[in-house]
Amino acid sequence: MKLFSTLLITAVASAASLASVPVYRNAALPMEQRIEDALSRLTLREKINIIHAQSKFSSPGVPRLGIPGLWTTDGPHGIRPEVLWDQWDQAGWTNDSCVAFPALTCLAASWNPEVSALYGKSIGEEALYRGKNVLLGPGVNIYRTPLNGRNFEYMGEDPLLAARMVVPYIQGVQRNGVAVCVKHYALNNNEVNRHTTNVILDDRALYEIYLPAFKAAVQQGGAWSIMGAYNLCGDEHLCHNNRFLNKILKEEWGFDGAVISDWGGVHNTDQAIRNGVDLEFGSWTNGLSEGAKNAYDMYFMALPYLQKIQKGEVGTKELDDKVRRVLRLIFRTSMAPCKEPGELCSEAHYAAARKIGNEGIVLLKNRGGVLPIRSDAPQGRILVVGENAVKMMTVGGGSSSLKVQHEVSPLDGIRAAAGSMTVDYARGYVGDIGGEYNGVVTGQNLADSRTPEQLIAEAVEKAKVADYVIFVGGLNKAGHQDCEDTDRHGLELPYSQDAVIEALAGVNPNLVVVNISGNAVAMPWVDRVPAIVQGWYLGSEAGNSIADVLFGKVNPSGKLPMTFPVALKDNGAHALGAYPGVKRPDSPIVDLEYKEGILVGYRWHDTRKVKPLFAFGHGLSYTTFAYGKLTTDAKEMGADGKITVSIPVTNTGAVAGAEVVQLYISDPKCSVPRPAKELKNFCKVYLQPGETRTVTFDVAREDLCFFDAATHAWVAEPGEFVVSVGGSSDDIKGKAKFRF
Ligand code: BGC
Repeated sequence: MKLFSTLLITAVASAASLASVPVYRNAALPMEQRIEDALSRLTLREKINIIHAQSKFSSPGVPRLGIPGLWTTDGPHGIRPEVLWDQWDQAGWTNDSCVAFPALTCLAASWNPEVSALYGKSIGEEALYRGKNVLLGPGVNIYRTPLNGRNFEYMGEDPLLAARMVVPYIQGVQRNGVAVCVKHYALNNNEVNRHTTNVILDDRALYEIYLPAFKAAVQQGGAWSIMGAYNLCGDEHLCHNNRFLNKILKEEWGFDGAVISDWGGVHNTDQAIRNGVDLEFGSWTNGLSEGAKNAYDMYFMALPYLQKIQKGEVGTKELDDKVRRVLRLIFRTSMAPCKEPGELCSEAHYAAARKIGNEGIVLLKNRGGVLPIRSDAPQGRILVVGENAVKMMTVGGGSSSLKVQHEVSPLDGIRAAAGSMTVDYARGYVGDIGGEYNGVVTGQNLADSRTPEQLIAEAVEKAKVADYVIFVGGLNKAGHQDCEDTDRHGLELPYSQDAVIEALAGVNPNLVVVNISGNAVAMPWVDRVPAIVQGWYLGSEAGNSIADVLFGKVNPSGKLPMTFPVALKDNGAHALGAYPGVKRPDSPIVDLEYKEGILVGYRWHDTRKVKPLFAFGHGLSYTTFAYGKLTTDAKEMGADGKITVSIPVTNTGAVAGAEVVQLYISDPKCSVPRPAKELKNFCKVYLQPGETRTVTFDVAREDLCFFDAATHAWVAEPGEFVVSVGGSSDDIKGKAKFRF
C-alpha cells in the first residue's frame, strides 16, 4: 500500500511538473507553437538583445527564460580556433585544434555528392564537439574571375555543380543539430573593394548563374541560416537588401531561417530594420572600440533600433519577424533536444579528409603515363622541389584559417609513400615565409637567404640525377594569393616559379608539377611538362592525399569545377574589361557591371570559341574509359514529359577507376542568346577494369529553360534541343537531338 501511494505521488508530481514546463521548452510540441509562446514572453529589450552579437562570434539568448544563445564559428573547412571575447586575437586555448578538411574547390572537384555528405557530417561533428551552433559556411559564390582571392572557399563556376554539391554538405552538417550559414549571399565574386562594389547585372545572369546554388541551399538543403554579402546590388548593401533578402530569399524561396550579416556588413539601422537581416554580427559602429563597455549596445540593431521603437518611429512588426527567425535558429540548434556529443580530431575525420582530397585531386595531364610513380623501382630517386611541398597551408587566407592538430605536408606524404625509394628535397624558390594568422603560428621557419639563381641551380643539379622530379608549387594563403580581402594581381604563378619549372623540364623528362591553389593559374610551360596535378588546398591530410594519387594507391577521379584559361583575357569578365569596376567620382562606391552576363566560365569559352588551357569538367585517370553509343528513349519531349538518355561507359584500362559522366544541353535556335551548352546533370561511376555500365539521365523541361526577365519566369521554347554527354565540357562523346 505504501509502495502504491509512493508511486501515485511520484506520478502525480511528474505529470504536474510536465504540465508546468512552459510551451516553448516542450520539445514535443510543434516548433511554431513554441516560438509564438517564447515570443509572447519576451520583453522589448530581450527581443532587441537576441538580434545582435554579444561577442565576436556569439549572440545572447534569454537567460531569464533559460533560452541559450548562439555560438557561431568559421567555417567552411574546419572549426576556427577560439578568439578573445571582443578581439580577433587567439584566446590561447589548448583544446581547440581541429581537422582541416580540403577546401571547397576540392570538394566541388570530386563531383561526388556522397563525398559532400561525408564532409558535412564530419565538420558538423567537429562543430558539435566544440559547442558551436552555427557553422559559417559553406560558400557558393560563383567563380567569375580567377583573380578572386576567395574562390578556394567556393564551389566553382557552374551553378548546377555548386547546387548539387552544396545540398548534401548542408544536410550532413545540420543532422548534427548545427546550422550552416550559407555565404555570401550574393554576388560577392571578388574581394577587391568588397565593401563598396555595387554589382550591376541583368536578371538572366542573376537567376541562371548566381542564384541557383543559394536557392538549392535553401529549398533542397533546408539551410537554417544564410549570410548576407559585404557588397552592394541596386545601391543597397546585400546585408540589408530588400530585393535579395525580403523579395527573393524570404518571399520567392520561402526561407524560414535567419539572415546573419557578414561581420561588419550592416551599415544602417533603418535599412537593417526593413530589409531582411535578422542577426547583426561584427559591426564596428560608433562607440564600439575594443573591449569598450556596452559596445554591443551600439550595434545598428541594438539601442538605435530600440530607441526608434520607443520614439514611435517604427513599429515592432519587423522586430517580431527577426525574433521569430532567431528563436527558430536557437530551437533548431542550441536548444535542440538529445544532441550527440560530436567528435573532434577523430580517426574517422582524418579518414574523411583524406578521402575528400583523394576524390578531388585532378590529374590535368599525364603524357606517356609518367604517373603513377612506379613503386617497383626500389632504387629509384625522387626529387621534390618547391615551397608548397613544405609550407603549411591551413594557416592564412582569412577567416577560413585554422589551428590544426596536424597537417601532413606533401613532402612528408611523399616520403611516407615512397617505400625504399630515396626522396630528396630542394627549395627551388622562396615565396611567402610568413606563417601567422590572428596569432596562430605555424612554427615553420621558411627563411632562405639564397638568391633565385642559387635555388634554381641547386634544384637543377639534383634533378639531373633523379628518376622523378615532383615540383610542388602554386599559390598560397598570403595576401593577393588565395586570401580573403584581397584579389590576385594576375593569372601567373608568383615568385618566378615558371623559371624553376622551365629549368627542371630542361634536365629531367619525368617532371610532375603539382599545383596547389584554389584558382586557375597560367602554365606557359604546359607543353614542356609531361604530368600536371591540380592539388587544391587539402587540409590536414594534404600530403597523404597527394601521395596516394602520385603513387597510384588512389586512381585520380576529380574534374575541374572551373575553367583554366590560357591567359586572363580569355576569361569573359576580363575580356570585356568588366573587373574590378569603376569608382564613382563622388563616393566610395565602385560600379561593377557583369558585362559577360550569363557567359561565365565554360559558357564563355564554348560560346565564343576561346580554347581553354584546361576545360571545365576536365580530369584524367590512370585508366581509360570508352563511351558507347548515346541513345534516347524518345525524339520528342512533351511539356510535362521527360526523355531518358543512356550511354554505356567501359573501363578499358588495367586498373579500377571512376569517371564523371557529364550531360550538357544546347538550345541552338532560341529567341534569346543561349550558351553553346550548359551542364544539366552528372554522375560519377566506379568501374572495374573491363566493366561496362550504362549511365542514364532523365532530361526534363526545367533542363531546357532560360530565365525570362520580362515575365520573371523560366521558359522553354518549343524547338530542337541537343543533348551532349562526355567526360568534360570539351570532350563530348555522344550527342542526340530531340524536339520539345
Ligand atoms: C567573412 C566571413 C566570415 C566572418 C567571420 C568575414 O570577414 O567575410 O566569411 O564568416 O568574417 O569571421
